[in-house]
Amino acid sequence: METAEIRRRFIAHFEGRGHTHVPSASLLLDDPNLLFVNAGMVPFKPYFLGQETPPYPRAVSVQKCVRTLDIEEVGKTTRHGTFFQMNGNFSFGDYFKDGAIENAWRLVTGSVDEGGLGFAPDRIWVTVEHHDDESAQLWKRIAGLPEERIQRRGLKDNYWHMGVPGPGGPCSEIYVDRGPEYGPDGGPEADEDRFLEIWNLVFMQSKLSEVRAKDDFDIEGDLPAKNIDTGMGLERVAYLLQGKQNMYEIDEIFPVIEKASELSGRRYGADHDDDVRFRVVADHVRSAMMLIGDGVTPGNEARGYVLRRLLRRAVRSMRLLGVEDRVLPELMPVSRDRMKASYPELELQWERISTVAYAEEDAFRSTLKAGTQIFDVAVGEARNSATASLTGEQAFRLHDTYGFPIDLTLEMASEQGLAVDEEGFRRLMAQQRERAKADAKAKKAKHGDTHHYRALADSLGSAVQFTGYDEVVSEGTVRGILAGDGTAQAAHEGDEIELVLDRTPFYAEGGGQLADQGLIQLGNGARLQVLDVQSPISGLIVHQAKVVAGEVTVGEQAQALVDVERRLSISRAHTATHMVHKAFREALGDTATQAGSENAPGRFRFDFSATGAVPPSVLADVEARVNDLVLADLPVHAEIMSQAEAVRSGAMALFGEKYGDQVRVISVGDWARELCGGTHTPRSANLGVVKLLGESSIGSGVRRVEALVGSDAYRFLAREHVLVAQLSEALKARPEELPERVADLVDRLRSAEKEIERVRVAQLLAAAGELAAAAEDLGGVSFVGHRADGADAGDVRKLTLDVRGRFPSDRAAVVAVVGSVDGRASVVVAVNDAARAQGLSANALVRAAAETLGGRGGGKDDVAQGGGADAAKADEALNRLRTQVHDTVTGS
Ligand code: ALA
Repeated sequence: METAEIRRRFIAHFEGRGHTHVPSASLLLDDPNLLFVNAGMVPFKPYFLGQETPPYPRAVSVQKCVRTLDIEEVGKTTRHGTFFQMNGNFSFGDYFKDGAIENAWRLVTGSVDEGGLGFAPDRIWVTVEHHDDESAQLWKRIAGLPEERIQRRGLKDNYWHMGVPGPGGPCSEIYVDRGPEYGPDGGPEADEDRFLEIWNLVFMQSKLSEVRAKDDFDIEGDLPAKNIDTGMGLERVAYLLQGKQNMYEIDEIFPVIEKASELSGRRYGADHDDDVRFRVVADHVRSAMMLIGDGVTPGNEARGYVLRRLLRRAVRSMRLLGVEDRVLPELMPVSRDRMKASYPELELQWERISTVAYAEEDAFRSTLKAGTQIFDVAVGEARNSATASLTGEQAFRLHDTYGFPIDLTLEMASEQGLAVDEEGFRRLMAQQRERAKADAKAKKAKHGDTHHYRALADSLGSAVQFTGYDEVVSEGTVRGILAGDGTAQAAHEGDEIELVLDRTPFYAEGGGQLADQGLIQLGNGARLQVLDVQSPISGLIVHQAKVVAGEVTVGEQAQALVDVERRLSISRAHTATHMVHKAFREALGDTATQAGSENAPGRFRFDFSATGAVPPSVLADVEARVNDLVLADLPVHAEIMSQAEAVRSGAMALFGEKYGDQVRVISVGDWARELCGGTHTPRSANLGVVKLLGESSIGSGVRRVEALVGSDAYRFLAREHVLVAQLSEALKARPEELPERVADLVDRLRSAEKEIERVRVAQLLAAAGELAAAAEDLGGVSFVGHRADGADAGDVRKLTLDVRGRFPSDRAAVVAVVGSVDGRASVVVAVNDAARAQGLSANALVRAAAETLGGRGGGKDDVAQGGGADAAKADEALNRLRTQVHDTVTGS
């Protein structure tokens, strides 16, 4: 049975039982605790916790998931995939254990003709949590399972939570017996390879406040209702139903292995190590494609790093299979063609996805090239060392600076017959991790402990109402105060607190838009200055405020007043960002999708995907287009619609939105349409002027544009105008003549400087004749010792050599010149052949002189040079030379 068919049957089975089909959420759902969505229940978490009211009592979904904790296991076991799809059915306070077990059993064992999956009932085993007699009874009653195929296990195996505070509950897992050829008898307790888990039914009923391990957590209390959360591994069921040995061989994945085999000329199934590589390639290519599809770009941190690692591991595995050419352009389209039936956006966004992936492969190829050279040097050093081993430090540097994974270093070293100090490498890695952890902790502390926010959100009962789309002044009630490290009942003048109202016009920083600022005042005369506004968890809006007068107490009425100037100016920036985004897509194609933005008062920055620098002409066109549409005075309006309607209307979706919900769409005329929760101006003409300041790269494939809007743009242009006018006046030229005039000035300045230099050297050398004529005679050797204050090392050398050249060759001569610039001395000694014949060496002499000058020197017997920090000792140094020359020639 094809994977798509299993998915279809799953959805149909539950739709037929009153479940609403909810499309998969993006992998990047906004949850501060999760890097990626890793279970089907993640988008529904607020429903389980009672933070939001579910729009349906039952739901079914096939959720995209990414888990990369076990990335090293990929390809080695039968069931570790970094990307997988989780089929789930959910009940929010509706049916509970009996409904979950009944629904699952019917689908798993239902006949294929009647829409089931057709597993033979006698191949099914289940596990339940130790104390969960109720579930064990239900399995007997509903499924008729005999006692011996219902195994009881502890919390470690049969309790499910998110690994962080949140919902949790005991669970019951369904296993399929693959047969005696896969391992010993005895159910999942005995062997989890033979008995393969396909479905986990979680009886979600508790709220956990603290989670230390799978089986070590604190239960804070009951959830508002008893819920069901289940997860069936789509890939696992597929490989069982397709009669394959592992998840990498299913219809959605295997064609990539076939392509890799064709490219490498190696056969899948012939060699264990190669097989692992084939599987890594197939898994990682797919995961990377899905991540890029949801808006991740390769980077060195967090999500971007995971993506980078996946892409690099795929490319490297192909190299180990002997393919050195670019591989992703061959492999990724194969994966796309297998996945597009379920994820049509892969095809729609292909240009962007492939551009990002291929650019990363190219970057890695040059990394490999650079790293390989460093590697070769390290190999040379290791060969010369006693240990015949690369040091931990070398391996670490290859990893850290050149992105060489340790196993690549290990492989390449062993090809050279060398070992690697892996322990040293791991020690350095651990140290680096510690540093990163400490950094992360420091960062997190700034936002405080989400625990308090959760408690506050719970006490509110419903989400804080944001009134700021319609008004900038609202009446509300103080519902909570956080001060110091916990909640407080009241706060006084001078206190810096976090304050929660039941309704507020203050926009919390989000979607790239900075927070509002302003004032909150109470009937009793108390006033608070609002400095920042954040939404640390969904449904909660927190004002960071300073009490500037009076006292504020929970329960009091308050009036919240947004700083209107700031809000207007941020809104102008936000509308401008949408317009610039759209104009870039018109100019560069749909690959120019937004990768981030910041909308601040009067200015914004906009990051987008592009493979190279954006030419100035395109920037100019985009700016002109946007300003034309500002002048056209297009209306800007917001509409709430379903995700599907939004997509139909051509809205650009930002990544990380929760699908299936009602979304807010902002339209600038009929032109730019985008999903957005931010605030905007009523008409495009409110922007006044938009001025792009420039464009730069901020990482692989991402460009950044910075720009000004409204009066900030106007002031910038006015300032530039004044500058130009001043230059025009100073240079007595019309503005349009300025570039040429300045270029001309620079040319003339350069030739003047050259001329000055020529004259200076000529003057210096003019003294050479006199110096030679005034040489002292030291026992038959001519000695010139000269101070050239103000001359640098280059001049000193020229002068010294010039003077030496003025002595006839049969006349022994030693010339020493000490120059000085800013208190630092340079010294050059030149000795001619006749003097060398008398045992004089420039090298020996200069060392002595430089030592006196407080520095060092050296060179050859005929010319040597040095310097020191103590130019005041120039005379002393020359005297020392004089004595040394004298003593050498007279032998005293
Ligand atoms: N949330 C459960 C899991 O991920 C179903 O296994």
